[in-house]
Amino acid sequence: MNKKALITGVTGQDGSFLSEFLLAKGYEVHGIIRRSSVDFRERIAHLEGKPNFHLHYADMGDSMSLVKLVGKVQPTEIYNLAAQSHVQVSFDAPEFTADVDAVGVLRILEAVRTNHLEKSCKIYQASTSELYGKVEEIPQNEQTPFHPYSPYAVAKLYGYWIVKEYREAYDMFCCSGILFNHESERRGETFVTRKITLAAARIAQGNQDCLYLGNLDSKRDWGYAKDYVECMWLILQHPTPEDFVIATGVQHTVREFATLAFHYAGIELRWEGEGINEIGIDVKTGRTVVAVSEDFYRPTDVVNLLGDPTKAKTELGWNPSKTSFEELVRLMTEHDMAKVAGEGVAAKVRMNLAEYLEKGIVK
Ligand code: NAP
Ligand code: GDD
Repeated sequence: MNKKALITGVTGQDGSFLSEFLLAKGYEVHGIIRRSSVDFRERIAHLEGKPNFHLHYADMGDSMSLVKLVGKVQPTEIYNLAAQSHVQVSFDAPEFTADVDAVGVLRILEAVRTNHLEKSCKIYQASTSELYGKVEEIPQNEQTPFHPYSPYAVAKLYGYWIVKEYREAYDMFCCSGILFNHESERRGETFVTRKITLAAARIAQGNQDCLYLGNLDSKRDWGYAKDYVECMWLILQHPTPEDFVIATGVQHTVREFATLAFHYAGIELRWEGEGINEIGIDVKTGRTVVAVSEDFYRPTDVVNLLGDPTKAKTELGWNPSKTSFEELVRLMTEHDMAKVAGEGVAAKVRMNLAEYLEKGIVK
């Protein structure tokens, strides 16, 4: 049978890597996009026009669009990655987050049932380490009790349980990957890692003075997104539908991430002070280049995530240490150093062009 994947959230970080991965495996890949005033699909632009890559308008908030699309595509695998995925934003838009991240999962499951594809279509649900929230044990594995600690996590908890319910009630092949934080050069720019690597690059090249962060003590188990999408696929190839923790088993603080990113950008940091008064100083110049702002504190913050990937390692044969923390930070920082340098060149060309136009040197 031809392998046909439908990816919700195809324009996101994971959706773009997963599309590349599945296309390389010979899949026909269909992705859901939604209407926006700026059609800016940077992460998948290089895939558009490929014969096996197809995009369709639909929305996780619109059942009818999902039912029609699942019926039209007749996928053999659905990867439900679409979500309002920013934890801090979920405190400001909790209802929207619940609609997309919780009820959206139900809509996908029902779209499959409505089209009578329960027995032919496997479903992957993008679950999250945020379910562990105010953690009850360290490290966290598939048996660790959940304690969601944000509107995002509560919405994702519904997604997790409704997937389990449909698996048991209707014998569907639907599973959750409980993924710990995974980052890349394609990570959204307001997540802490990318915010840091971009700022380190801008500060190193004289385009920004200071980076403002929230909780520097927060600990995360950070992996590389490109390694993690392989696991999403492996979970659906497993003989039985099961949930898996996907993590590296290594933990670092936000402060450690920042120290290393600045190092790769050519700036050595020295930390002084505590809490809201903590600052990161450029050892060479004595300038403060990192400071703490309450604006980035959360009403409740998840501060100690560390995953135990033993099950994924033994049952899926997945390698959690493919890309080390150091390599991840280096590749993201090097990418952003080049990006910022490119922006500088483009700005200079625009300035020169404006000047030449004004002086009538070019018309
Ligand atoms: P992301 O970059 O924020 O991408 C989210 C995707 O969801 C985008 O394609 C977005 O489309 C789409 N989307 C949002 N609302 C939608 C709606 N109403 N209808 C249709 N599409 C909608 O997220 P990511 O980092 O790739 O993460 C993928 C999934 O894994 C998410 O469900 C996230 O919660 C989960 N997860 C991520 C991590 C991580 O560390 N990255 C860890 C655990 C779980 P637009 O481009 O149009 O906004
Ligand atoms: N975003 C952000 N910005 N976070 C900051 C900042 C800042 O300026 N300063 C400190 N942090 C801290 C946050 O308080 C949090 O404890 C940690 O850095 C990580 O924040 P994010 O990078 O925003 O990611 P997240 O862990 O909240 O959520 C991501 O990972 C989850 C998996 O654990 C998202 O990708 C979620 O969608 C995903 O489920």
